[in-house]
Amino acid sequence: MKLLGVSCFYHDSAACLIDAGRIVAAAQEERFTRIKHDADFPLNAVRYCLAEGGVGPGGASLDGVVFYDKPLLKFHRILETYLEVVPRGLRSYVQAVPLWLKDKLWIPPQIEEALERCGIGGSKRPEIYFTEHHESHAASAYYPSPFEDAAVLTLDGVGEWATTTLGVGEKERLRILEEIKFPHSLGLLYSAFTYFTGFKVNSGEYKLMGLAPYGVGRYTDLIKRELVDIKEDGSFRLNMDYFGYMDGLAMTNGRFDTLFGGPPREPESPISRREMDLAKSIQEVTEEIVVKLARHAREVTGKRYLCLAGGVALNCVANGVLLRTGVFDDLWIQPAAGDAGGALGAPLAFWHNALGKPRTVTPGRDSMRGSYLGPEFSREQIREYLEAKQLPYEELTEADWGKRVAALIAAENVVGLCHGRMEFGPRALGNRSIIGDARSPKMQSIMNLKIKYRESFRPFAPSVLEERVADFFELDRPSPYMLLVADVVERRRVPKKGDEESLPLLEWVNRPRSDVPAITHVDYSARIQSVSREENPRYHALISEFERLTGYGVIVNTSFNVRGEPIVCTPEDAYRCFMRTEMDYLVLGPFLIDKKAQPQLQDRGDWRQEYKLD
Ligand SMILES: [Fe+2]
Repeated sequence: MKLLGVSCFYHDSAACLIDAGRIVAAAQEERFTRIKHDADFPLNAVRYCLAEGGVGPGGASLDGVVFYDKPLLKFHRILETYLEVVPRGLRSYVQAVPLWLKDKLWIPPQIEEALERCGIGGSKRPEIYFTEHHESHAASAYYPSPFEDAAVLTLDGVGEWATTTLGVGEKERLRILEEIKFPHSLGLLYSAFTYFTGFKVNSGEYKLMGLAPYGVGRYTDLIKRELVDIKEDGSFRLNMDYFGYMDGLAMTNGRFDTLFGGPPREPESPISRREMDLAKSIQEVTEEIVVKLARHAREVTGKRYLCLAGGVALNCVANGVLLRTGVFDDLWIQPAAGDAGGALGAPLAFWHNALGKPRTVTPGRDSMRGSYLGPEFSREQIREYLEAKQLPYEELTEADWGKRVAALIAAENVVGLCHGRMEFGPRALGNRSIIGDARSPKMQSIMNLKIKYRESFRPFAPSVLEERVADFFELDRPSPYMLLVADVVERRRVPKKGDEESLPLLEWVNRPRSDVPAITHVDYSARIQSVSREENPRYHALISEFERLTGYGVIVNTSFNVRGEPIVCTPEDAYRCFMRTEMDYLVLGPFLIDKKAQPQLQDRGDWRQEYKLD
């Protein structure tokens, strides 16, 4: 039985295909349309997922489509919210309602039209089902997890009404036990600070988290006193006098400005101490709520394991803190924790929870297959592309592949890597990644300025061999999806000089902090991706070769894109990004492409104009 999951019309639309409960394919629409966070109906992602599953004319039939939330309920929430604040909210009401009436409410016809375009129509038209937003998140966290039973927390901005839920999964059953409702939302609280500190809501949250290590929590008490009332069980209420999202179009209002000593930071303007301290303070508040919610979840459910999803679950610093509290024996976090993951959770919820189909669990191993669930391009397809464009390349043998690429990065080259199936979720995990030498003191600024075109205060993430995690980090278990932050082990650290806080941000970030400086944050933390031989044998082999050459089983991994662009999908996307940056080599499947040999190198225009600095 094949089920298609769809999430869209909010942000990060996506599609997913499951077959008898097994995840076959999943992808975000942005990767195909090249529009970052594309929220439109995911026609391309649907087409890809159906093709990957052999569904379509002459192939298998599709047994159902499951949409990740209930548009009418959501519309109801929006109407009620507006009615509560009318006439103050009239402006946003007038803007939002026609959009809802036109697109968002009429999901079934859009799904049917998309299927028809994929050759599925008439008598073969499948039923369309709806799950609730937070049920989709909870299902995406619990069903693929390696646990037989677990507590399940979902934390995000808002779906229909719920913003936070506590549930429990046992075998194929998943029940939501408690919820916190809009407007009280941890996701929206964090987003309010994202907005106020001058970052983009729905994507800049990760930057705000990365800024926190520079700050001190001098606003933490003020936030808890004025903005959010946190109860012992982790439930919370926001003081809506300070927020703009009920009645306006901004996240915060004038009272919020007064509380924090002035208006929001202008995007792209210099980051001041206030923003660093706000970042640290809201991070501390978030961690307190997450840990208290988890304690309560443990008490209520009695389970030893916890599954997490929803946008807040991408806060890998809070996840690391939660793990170290020992409240739960272990955590599993859905790698596509944001709304894209709803496309995966919706059909799983329908299959197990509605149809009651049993779930098989392999202890110690989740069913996400490394989250490598997207398109892959064959040797022939890539070769055809290279030949058609007459691009010089060298083909590497399987045995040579890891050795050659490892030697290139050991010599401080920056290499773009596009091979295997594309990752599902916001992080690149070695198949659509740019990699470099984690030991190099200059790698961080090379990658920031010459590759990503940003002046970032954030270090890069490490990809470390799973069996070497404890050699580098204070972590005793795998972190396959870059969703846990832990410190670099003490013996690798360079002591602080004590004058760090008086330095300009970029000088501070460029000062080496360990023997793997490119991946060590100013507070010695790192966003860890552990790489296992089972889930990604090629990437594992590459890092193993790097270890053989250098003694270090860890490299730098950043997503294969430039600022403002989605991660690359096809060999063509990868080649174009490669040529527009100062990457030295590109690996497309088995092919190695040397920048120096490329014909257009002298003729790529003023690429710096296209990107603003970060
Ligand atoms: Fe959500």
